[in-house]
Amino acid sequence: MKRLGILTGGGDAPGLNAVIRAAVKTAIYEYGCEVLGIRDGYDGFIDDQGVIPLGIEDVRGLLPRGGTILGTANRGNPYARTVIRDGQEITIDVSDEIVKGIKRLGMDALLVLGGDGTLHSAHELYLKGAPIIGVPKTIDNDIGGTESTFGFDTAVTTATEAIDKLHTTAEAHHRVMVLELMGRDAGFIALHAGVAGGSDVILIPEIPFRFESVVAKVRQRVERGYLFSIIAVSEGAKPLSGEQVISRAGDQIYVPRLGGIGQVVGEYIEQQGFETRVTVLGHLQRGGTPTPFDRWLATRYGAAAVRLAAQGRFDRMVSLHAGKIVDVSLEEAIAVPKRVDLNDDAVITARGMGISFGDE
Ligand code: F6P
Repeated sequence: MKRLGILTGGGDAPGLNAVIRAAVKTAIYEYGCEVLGIRDGYDGFIDDQGVIPLGIEDVRGLLPRGGTILGTANRGNPYARTVIRDGQEITIDVSDEIVKGIKRLGMDALLVLGGDGTLHSAHELYLKGAPIIGVPKTIDNDIGGTESTFGFDTAVTTATEAIDKLHTTAEAHHRVMVLELMGRDAGFIALHAGVAGGSDVILIPEIPFRFESVVAKVRQRVERGYLFSIIAVSEGAKPLSGEQVISRAGDQIYVPRLGGIGQVVGEYIEQQGFETRVTVLGHLQRGGTPTPFDRWLATRYGAAAVRLAAQGRFDRMVSLHAGKIVDVSLEEAIAVPKRVDLNDDAVITARGMGISFGDE
């Protein structure tokens, strides 16, 4: 392996820079290999000056830094790229151009750090001849084939700290505090942070809820003398008799933007006579320095991805399994998105602790 490319696609997640750092160091120190960074996801293959050399000096100090030094794009679908032609905005397929770009730049392998959408595109590019290795990134933790994506632990830490902070006002003012968390169609962030922060109600996409059931839990607490409640709501949670709340419709390029269910839940509870406030944690969950766990995972993923590349084992994704870094086929990883398993001990434990999922 003489030359390795790296790109980061989709939403940013804490740990991207740590993966880049580990990959560059491993490629240079272990394999004496040259590394090129691609800017702004797959776009970097198309736009001018989208490719930059990455040396040891370029990755110095990156371990604790959030974001990605390469930039990213969540509109970067190679099969539907927006361009202006004759004054009209149209979408075109640039996948062949990307595969040609990889070859033109003499890359022996391309590490793609991304979530669901980016890894889907990565697999399709492999089928067109690109030497791809995937690294699972996302705060949502919704990628199949791995027990954890990097970025998730940091998001859960931020969300748990937020719940801890909401507790004090909830208790002082005898209020219901609703916290809306990210996660798209997977409830991992709300479930983990909700349990870690001692929430009374956790609403996740995998368990459709009833408003009456949520209020019943709040009322039961008041009757027992607990005058406040904390409710962690995943942005993708939906009522049994309704739909997810979408703040912006999707199109050919963007997936629908979720958001607003926290407000809906909060308003319902307040109408039932309980003073309620709603907080949306939003992109604070994606920002900031990665936790030690995410730095550790990202470093191991970055190094393992380079080793896979050196062995020519393309169309694979590095993965965490029982504490070890292994690899799975990209096809397997993207086949079925990961969701909260309702029979898992995490859900059973939460129920046993008296936490309501709004479905009883
Ligand atoms: O996939 C990560 C994520 O943060 C989701 O949890 C959230 O729904 C989405 O991205 C937000 O995307 P954007 O940054 O485009 O608003």
